[in-house]
Amino acid sequence: MPRTEFIATGFHVPERVVTNDDLATMMDTSDEWISQRSGIKTRHWVSDGETGATLAREAAHQALARAGMKPADLDCIVYCTCTPDHFEPGNGVFLERELGLRDVPALDVRNQCSGFVYGLSVADAWIRAGQYRRVLLVGAEVHSRGLDRTTRGRDTTVLFGDGAGVAILGPTDDPRRGVLSTHLYADGRHAEKLWVDAPGLAHDPYISEELIRAGKHRAVMDGREVFKFASVLMPQSVATALKANGLSPADLKLLVPHQANLRIMEMVQKTIGLRDDQIYMNIQKYGNTTAASIPIALHEALCEGRLGRGDLLVLTAFGSGFTWASAAIRW
Ligand code: ACO
Repeated sequence: MPRTEFIATGFHVPERVVTNDDLATMMDTSDEWISQRSGIKTRHWVSDGETGATLAREAAHQALARAGMKPADLDCIVYCTCTPDHFEPGNGVFLERELGLRDVPALDVRNQCSGFVYGLSVADAWIRAGQYRRVLLVGAEVHSRGLDRTTRGRDTTVLFGDGAGVAILGPTDDPRRGVLSTHLYADGRHAEKLWVDAPGLAHDPYISEELIRAGKHRAVMDGREVFKFASVLMPQSVATALKANGLSPADLKLLVPHQANLRIMEMVQKTIGLRDDQIYMNIQKYGNTTAASIPIALHEALCEGRLGRGDLLVLTAFGSGFTWASAAIRW
């Protein structure tokens, strides 16, 4: 059975940069508070005409160019997002249309910050089974239009940013390379600790002025609980990925964690015992871009030469659900 390799990556963020000082003009916050609590200095927000699908299209074109491929060479799209352009249909079909494709299957994955690793697991299984040979795996988010830009929303609004990251995946016959394993987890007991309640068909009507007035369409987070669980479960998922392959932290060339929060990533680094050069962080520039954060970080790490052929890469993610996941990859 072949393994799945990363053929090329790409990413795209909107041009508009929003600094912590910009946020301080909209709500009661400060650069000091945001920097100390999250490590974030800037994030990108979409402007008129930009959507999740257009961000993903730009990232996809970049990866296709790097791979020397055309959109028509793709035979499947897996689109991971928790901020779809519309309630229905999912964003995969809108991206398919943007890429000028017609009969390519498009799967939407709704696993929030863990979306990219969940999507990787699905794409990997399809590729190893021989069902598809060229899968475009997308993580893309437009958070900014859903954020409460007043003081009421400051605990979540300052953390999130917009962006898209993609990978083109395909089979390799080289037994020493590719995706070694993926590990997926969920615990729905914590579903309401980070969630957007509405619109939702649990409500009748599923959207109303009352729901909007109550702010039910905004992301609500119990930050302390997220911190507590993420800082334990992310290192645990890395340990699982290493153990499953008979490896140890010393074998790790690079850990690319979901860019949730600098303090969470530092806790992950400390718990596993990694040197600074063994973990990649770029949350300072982009904020938390949820499903897009891992592919954006991976692309930048590759551009900076942090990962070479044969190196061991591990991905780990944690997010709303709670869901969490990891993957071990021999580059
Ligand atoms: N600016 C200024 N003050 C703020 C802001 C803000 N943006 N947000 C909240 N505050 C205030 C609070 O109202 C509170 O004020 P009070 O004491 O008068 O009530 C004070 O700051 C302290 O609030 P705490 O909740 O105690 O702050 P804490 O130190 O716990 O930090 C934070 C909050 C940063 C959210 C922290 O809990 C955290 O890092 N949690 C992890 C959450 C996270 O990273 N989520 C990412 C998304 S989920 C994911 O990707 C996995």
